Amino acid sequence: MEGIWASGRLTNDGPVLRRFEAALHKDLGWDNVAATSSGTMALQLACRALQLDGEVITPAFTFPATLQALRWNGLVPVLADVEPRWLTLDPASAAALVTPRTCAIVAVHTFGHPADVAALQLLASRYGLALVYDAAPAVGVRVDGVPVTAFGDASAVSFHATKVMHTIEGGAVCTPHDDAAEAVRRLRNFGLGESGGAQEYGTNAKMNELQAAVGLSLLRTLDVEVAGRAQAAAVYRELLKDVSSVRLLWPADTVNSNHAYAVARLRAGTAPLADKVSVFLDRHGVDSRRYFSQQYRSKGALCPSPTPVADAAAEDVLCLPLWGDIPLATVERVGRLVAEAVA
Ligand SMILES: Cc1ncc(COP(=O)(O)O)c(C=O)c1O
Repeated sequence: MEGIWASGRLTNDGPVLRRFEAALHKDLGWDNVAATSSGTMALQLACRALQLDGEVITPAFTFPATLQALRWNGLVPVLADVEPRWLTLDPASAAALVTPRTCAIVAVHTFGHPADVAALQLLASRYGLALVYDAAPAVGVRVDGVPVTAFGDASAVSFHATKVMHTIEGGAVCTPHDDAAEAVRRLRNFGLGESGGAQEYGTNAKMNELQAAVGLSLLRTLDVEVAGRAQAAAVYRELLKDVSSVRLLWPADTVNSNHAYAVARLRAGTAPLADKVSVFLDRHGVDSRRYFSQQYRSKGALCPSPTPVADAAAEDVLCLPLWGDIPLATVERVGRLVAEAVA
């Protein structure tokens, strides 16, 4: 950090940013990485760089930023249902929504669980659609050993402070297309080209040197962070495995998970219990999150067909406390409280 102050170069595509991007390439296997000021801006610029125009099929159950990034590009989000195991975009539901106006699929690696990348690629190829991933929570995730950012035409990750690895605020676009990566680099810097003139409508979405330094530092301990989370997640799983109204989302065998979230689905028969358990935990001083419960619909999005799986998830998902060095005694206490709350 002191070196950055001493250099006098605090932002604008500086050397630390370049080192951070190179480290993401080397350590995580990401290709064509362009860091940005947030995950939201990464998604926004990825869509712009791919010159999307029209309707975009995207999941009904996601963080609002997915839909907002589309709307800021003048795109129309068309909401498809999610599949029940990992709550990621259901390829069959998406296929049913393709129209002549569809230009792309923007799938989400929701809670860090990879979307069905093989089925979505088939669908995109069949209709000639661009395929973009909102990979905000999926830093470090691999599918069959392949970095999750290697799929589709572009992926947007988030380095927000709540993520497994972060730069306080930040994000990145990864894309196999050299021209799209170059476009993101221009767009994040006001659209300025080599000559210094603004050649297109860019914006200010630059990551600064201090953010990049935080990222470089935390990248070194990513494995330790993930291992700690995996251990804690396994304790939740063991404690709650026989509680019939609790189901923890668990990664597929083919996935190297980053255990970004401990996602519980809480339901007794047809009755959702997430609210009740959240209030119970709160009363015991435990912070949990009803992710996407209120937020999963957005103004300006189209929802042509029912989305029952997304609707159910919005009612019954509760994310339990999880971080790399969470004391296992805390995990055990929270697990027991959840079991008590649903009893
Ligand atoms: C699925 C999803 N997309 C986008 C974002 C936005 O990322 P950021 O906060 O870095 O803008 C988030 C943030 O949590 C997210 O969960």
